[in-house]
Amino acid sequence: MSTRTPLMAGNWKMNLDWKQGLALVEELGERLKDVDTSAVEVVVLPPFVDIRTVQTVVESDRIPLAYGGQDISAHESGAYTGEVSGQMLKALGASYAAVGHSERREYHGEDEQVTNAKVKAAFAAGLVPILCVGEPLEQRQAGKHVEYTLAQLEGGIEGLTAEQAAQIVIAYEPVWAIGTGEVATPDDAQEVCREIREALRAIHGDSVADAVRVLYGGSVKSSNVVELMGKEDVDGALVGGASLKAEEFAKIAGFQS
Ligand code: 13P
Repeated sequence: MSTRTPLMAGNWKMNLDWKQGLALVEELGERLKDVDTSAVEVVVLPPFVDIRTVQTVVESDRIPLAYGGQDISAHESGAYTGEVSGQMLKALGASYAAVGHSERREYHGEDEQVTNAKVKAAFAAGLVPILCVGEPLEQRQAGKHVEYTLAQLEGGIEGLTAEQAAQIVIAYEPVWAIGTGEVATPDDAQEVCREIREALRAIHGDSVADAVRVLYGGSVKSSNVVELMGKEDVDGALVGGASLKAEEFAKIAGFQS
């Protein structure tokens, strides 16, 4: 039995303005009262412009909810128009920063060099990176999904200390399962999540591999989360669409009850 605390993270993507985000977090706060939040860590990744509002509600209502950015600048500060630094996120009480989401890789050309720099920037700011990896359909069909995903993993974590590697969260999100309703089978998720853990074992040893949390993402809903979480190497979920409804996301968070 694993001692890893499950982590359910909601990636809002480019949805919900600050007022809508406020309403969602307020409702989520109510619904999380029925969830044993000592047994699961619940996280939201709102658009940057919503984070100040999320911070205010979470702190004033004492909601057991962590939050973070959907992205982070690789740079500390300075002339990088449009970017948001780790320090800025940290100053808003954020705990996490997603790095290398497939939508960042596809639409913003982020490669392993960039994801590696962002992972390091997150640690430097005292944030935990959620490094997203996963293969497009082509690689899956060619049977190269493990190889492809592990190359993203290894590039993204290069140069981390063992202590950092134990803290990082890895999210396996096969691109063909994102927003398509096409969820990977629990066995598909388990296969790659295990390979990710074994790759970490080969680089950093048992204590890192056994501590690190590996999430699955791609069309996760309350109706399929229990089965996915039944797999040994799946420690949580990175949820897109289903995290935009408080009732549904609270059900996902409460998958153990
Ligand atoms: P969906 O849950 O909408 O498929 O999105 C998954 C995802 O990309 C989360 O980061």
